[in-house]
Amino acid sequence: MPAHSASRGAKRPLKTLERVISKAGLGSRTEARQWIATGRVRVNGKTIQTPDYWVDFACDRVTLDGKPVHAGKKLYLLLYKPKGYLTAYKDPESRPTVYDLTTGVDAWVFPVGRLDLDTSGLLILTNDSQFAERLTNPEYKVPKTYQVKASTLLTDEQIDHLRRGVTLNDGPTRPAIVKRLRDTAKYTFLEVTLTEGRNRQVRRMLEAVGSKVLKLVRTAIGPVKIGELPIGTHRPLTGEEVRQLSLRK
Ligand code: URA
Repeated sequence: MPAHSASRGAKRPLKTLERVISKAGLGSRTEARQWIATGRVRVNGKTIQTPDYWVDFACDRVTLDGKPVHAGKKLYLLLYKPKGYLTAYKDPESRPTVYDLTTGVDAWVFPVGRLDLDTSGLLILTNDSQFAERLTNPEYKVPKTYQVKASTLLTDEQIDHLRRGVTLNDGPTRPAIVKRLRDTAKYTFLEVTLTEGRNRQVRRMLEAVGSKVLKLVRTAIGPVKIGELPIGTHRPLTGEEVRQLSLRK
């Protein structure tokens, strides 16, 4: 045991830094080790890069990227991501990220799934990795709804094809709910609900039927809708919303 903890007596409930972070629900132990190794974790203001550093959670202040790591308190946020923001912690090209929109949040949260740079709409951020797993694991079939502006007018056959499932390079897509919202002289607007969340899935589906996505907005995740939330802002999920999303199967 390092001198650090020995000096404070053996009665305190000590845990390794790696375990403190993974137990807080932020990610796996492997991820925790990476964050520690890359200098993102501090204990009482000092960067610690040793995963088996002993921590007394009763009195030590642990932060990840400067935000406190809380032992038990779970946080669930709903962000209306504008286009032009990356769903990532840091960008080598210094583009804005969703963390630039959550600066007032006093705990470390991570995005549940990902929206492309050019996609806007609902994104959940949390520090509850089990909850995140339920929302992203396709087995749980949590529906995600998107409004889509296609680059062309779509025929009924093209829309039926999207409904039945198209073949992408990573396999066929599941049947989807696809509604024609309206047509203008040049474009079709659709609402698409998927129960899986593959990389760039809506964009690739539209390409598979010979069109393209011009605009993509995620408007709902399960029963949680975008409502009146102003773009670029966030709000906590209500207890009822967390419950409904946790129960879905
Ligand atoms: N489908 C996409 O193509 N992009 C997203 O960001 C989300 C779903």
